Amino acid sequence: MLVLGIESSCDETAASVVEGGRAVRSSVVSSQHEIHEEYGGVVPELASRAHAERITGVVEQAIADAGCELSDLDAIAVGHRPGLIGALLVGVSAAKALSWSLGVPLVGVDHVRAHLWAGLLDTELQLDEVYPALGLVISGGHTAMFECASPDELCKLGGTIDDAVGEAYDKAAAILGLGHPGGPLVDALASSEGADERAVDFPVSRLGKDSLDFSFSGLKTSLLYQVRGVPGPGGKFPNEKDELNEQQIRDLCASFQRAASRAIVLKLERALEAMQTKPKSLVVGGGVSANSRIRSELASLADRHGLRLVVPAMCYCVDNAAMIAGLGFHRLQQGKPDDLTLRASPSMA
Ligand code: KG4
Ligand code: ZN
Repeated sequence: MLVLGIESSCDETAASVVEGGRAVRSSVVSSQHEIHEEYGGVVPELASRAHAERITGVVEQAIADAGCELSDLDAIAVGHRPGLIGALLVGVSAAKALSWSLGVPLVGVDHVRAHLWAGLLDTELQLDEVYPALGLVISGGHTAMFECASPDELCKLGGTIDDAVGEAYDKAAAILGLGHPGGPLVDALASSEGADERAVDFPVSRLGKDSLDFSFSGLKTSLLYQVRGVPGPGGKFPNEKDELNEQQIRDLCASFQRAASRAIVLKLERALEAMQTKPKSLVVGGGVSANSRIRSELASLADRHGLRLVVPAMCYCVDNAAMIAGLGFHRLQQGKPDDLTLRASPSMA
């Protein structure tokens, strides 16, 4: 079964053809980073406009790369929540038009759940080898853990009460004068030779004794104060104009990365203690699952607990449409198609 996936929830316009939910025949991602870079974050109206301009070309490219025709498609899957509403509407409208004109089923897919399908792409893992699972989504917009009975049955264990971890990475990069999105830049500097992760002992947020929620804004603020000093009366920073040298930047990145990954591991350990059913695996997804330090920490944690670690290949960590097509295939197999009344929604179900 060939499913075309469409993704437009934030600042990536993406389309992909996936066979049987696993085999990625094509995956086209048109990133809008250059449009939003000068604003230091995604501007919703500009994102919607860019999606509208790009969606047709991206879908055509995905079909061509897959070596098939529109008429070969068996279904259309689209990320319809959560995300920027104007951005989602572009993908949902395109998906409805294709489904109606080709006479094939339409299926709406939750973007956050789809991130947890990404690790199954291009693998032959059977679902009963993976589920029940502990799911972790770490991205620019989301940081949450789920008890997952199956790819589509999630029960939220905890989530961030302020910044998502990717957002904290992006803000850290902005404080250090690096580019956008900052996650990969901070990761590269943190992993560079001579970077000292013990240079600064940044706080690891625990929240309450048993809390399964995350908080990353304190870490970001600590980095800001470390760089510019603690603001005095009137909010003026003492070191407003101080330039950091390369070694200081590398050390700050490494120390930040150590604290961020420790916070994630701490909450996963707590979640494993709290779960009623012992999971078979730890399933991870989202842009931050590309992080080198976090990937290796997760591998050790899975090892300690005898869990299978399911992480996406690097190309499927950040937003893409292959994960949408994959989970869409699963939903169709479960007998859960949608129809043309499918609505875009800014929030999760
Ligand atoms: O999943 P994604 O494309 O978008 C959302 O659904 O939010 O994730 C994008 C986020 C950005 O915040 C980016 O900085 C972060 O993922 N990211 C990373 C790395 N690669 C991407 N963060 C840390 N280390 C990385 N290597
Ligand atoms: Zn995402």
